[in-house]
This record gives sequence, C-alpha cells and structure tokens, in this order.
Amino acid sequence: MSLFPLKAQGRSKIRVGILGCGAIGSRIAKSIKTQCSDHAVVSALFDINPAKAQKLQKHIPQKNVVKRSYQELLVSSDLVVEAVNAPDTHQLVRQALLAKKDVLVMSVGKFIEGASILKLAQKQGVRVLIPSGAIAGVDAIKAASLQRIDQITLTTRKPVYGFADNAYVQERRINLSQIKKETILFDGNVREAVKCFPQNINVAATIALASNAKDKLRIRIATSPEFKVNSHEIEVVGEFGRMVTKTENVVCPDNPKTSYLAVLSAIRTLKEYFQGVKIGT
Ligand SMILES: NC(=O)c1ccc[n+]([C@@H]2O[C@H](COP(=O)([O-])OP(=O)(O)OC[C@H]3O[C@@H](n4cnc5c(N)ncnc54)[C@H](O)[C@@H]3O)[C@@H](O)[C@H]2O)c1
Repeated sequence: MSLFPLKAQGRSKIRVGILGCGAIGSRIAKSIKTQCSDHAVVSALFDINPAKAQKLQKHIPQKNVVKRSYQELLVSSDLVVEAVNAPDTHQLVRQALLAKKDVLVMSVGKFIEGASILKLAQKQGVRVLIPSGAIAGVDAIKAASLQRIDQITLTTRKPVYGFADNAYVQERRINLSQIKKETILFDGNVREAVKCFPQNINVAATIALASNAKDKLRIRIATSPEFKVNSHEIEVVGEFGRMVTKTENVVCPDNPKTSYLAVLSAIRTLKEYFQGVKIGT
C-alpha cells in the first residue's frame, strides 16, 4: 500500500484527526503545524473533555476543527492519532479501522494481544502505526524476530517516589524509605507485570508486538535512591546474537507520567509516514 494514500487520491495534504487532546495529542498536533505542514494538516480534534479540544484549537491554524463526536472526527480525517486514556480505546481504534482510516496508536498497552487489530487493519487495507515510544532497539527486535528469540529482558528502573502510589508495593508492604541501593521490586512475566505495574504496559506491549515473542519476555522493575530518571534497559538474546539497549528518559514537560522520548518517537513516526521515507526496519 502507498505511503501517500491521499496523494494517490489527488488530495494534497493528509488530514489528521487528533483523538484525545491531552499531553501527547496536543504535542503531536502542534508538531504537525511546525514540522509537517508540507504534508499534513490537523483537520479534527476530539476530546471527551471539550475544554481540552478548545484549548488546543487556539494553537492550530485551521479554524473550527473541534468536533462534537468521534464520528465527526472520523469523517474529517484520513489518519487518526489515538492519544486517549480511555477504557474503550480498543473499540475506538476498531471504529477507525472499520472506517478505513490509518491509525497511529499511542495506547499500545491496550493492544498487548495485538493480533486481532492488526488482522482487521490488513483486511481493511489500512495501516496501524506504533511508535517505538520510550525505548530503543525496536527496529533490531523486529529484525531479530524473523529468527528464533531465546529471551528478552526488560529492566525498568525508576526513582523511589515513582512507586509511592503503586498498589503492588503497598500490598506487599514494601517500605520504600528503607531502600538504600538498587532493589528489584518485581521479576516475572509480562502478564503479571502489566497487572502489577500498569504504568509499564506501553513499553511491555511495544516489545511484545515487535518481537512476537511475548512468552519469552521477562520484566524486572527496580528502584534505588540513586535513580533520578526513568530508564528502560532491554536485553535480547537469539539466533541473531545479543543486543542491549538503554534509554534514560526525561519526562514530557506537559505530563510527568509520559516520557518525552515517547512523544518524539510518535512525531518522528508521523513524519516518516507523511514523507514516505522509513529509516530502520
Ligand atoms: N506508546 C508509548 O510509549 C506511550 C507513552 C506514554 C503514554 N502513552 C499512552 O498514550 C495515551 C495518552 O497519553 P497522554 O499523556 O496524552 O494522556 P493525557 O491524560 O494527558 O490525555 C489523554 C486525553 O484523552 C482524553 N480522553 C479520555 N477518554 C476519551 C475518549 N473516550 N474520547 C476522547 N478523548 C478521551 C482525556 O480527556 C485526555 O485529554 C495514554 O493511553 C498513555 O498510556 C503511550
């Protein structure tokens, strides 16, 4: 399928609908204006909280792009950027695919069992874009997955305060103030990890989808008073050899729960989609 679906239809710019006008949706909408205006326009904004869409409208050159419903957004868009924190994200993405819209998915954790959504996209002849997010090495994981993968270990390290409200830590009565050096809080498979540490779910799901080897994925969560930022270290061992990557992430200025690199990777994914140039696997 062409990377320029709209140009093929004779329209000059790709119309982007932003579903969810929070930290990520807003950043992406603004970047389309500043970085992608040769190829794309923001044509629709929808948020369950209309005030958020109205606030974002002020930063968008196109007028009256706030939509009253998701259906209206779908009609006005060629590509949907999903950036919601909603319980029914799966359904929202399905609706876009059924309407034959390409979709950039941010809430990738909702698609950890991704096969059905990817099959639907194929059936509809549309594309699902999943940015690499807050991690490095997704390109190599995808290449490696063409042959045997023996093990993938994701070690997420976060500052102690990052676990203050974590139910798993509270239930196990882990006294965070007693921790003096690097301590593993969790070591287990991906299913347990996403239940106990839902904040980690986007990273885990991205690796699971890229590797197609969810059962080989081991998740370790660690903390220490010495950790000042969130980091993700990935080790992959397989027929290709061994790979280790590590990112040390600063948070997005608009949302301390989001890594800045995750937002940047989404913008870069869109740029490559608009330009029809893809670097990496
Ligand atoms: N893939 C990654 O690496 C990665 C990294 C960080 C965050 N995320 C995910 O991206 C999503 C957005 O993150 P964020 O930081 O922008 O969150 P946010 O809380 O800042 O914004 C989410 C927005 O979605 C809106 N919303 C909720 N339900 C909606 C619905 N049904 N319809 C329309 N709008 C709705 C909210 O009102 C809010 O404005 C989250 O699911 C988050 O987990 C992914």
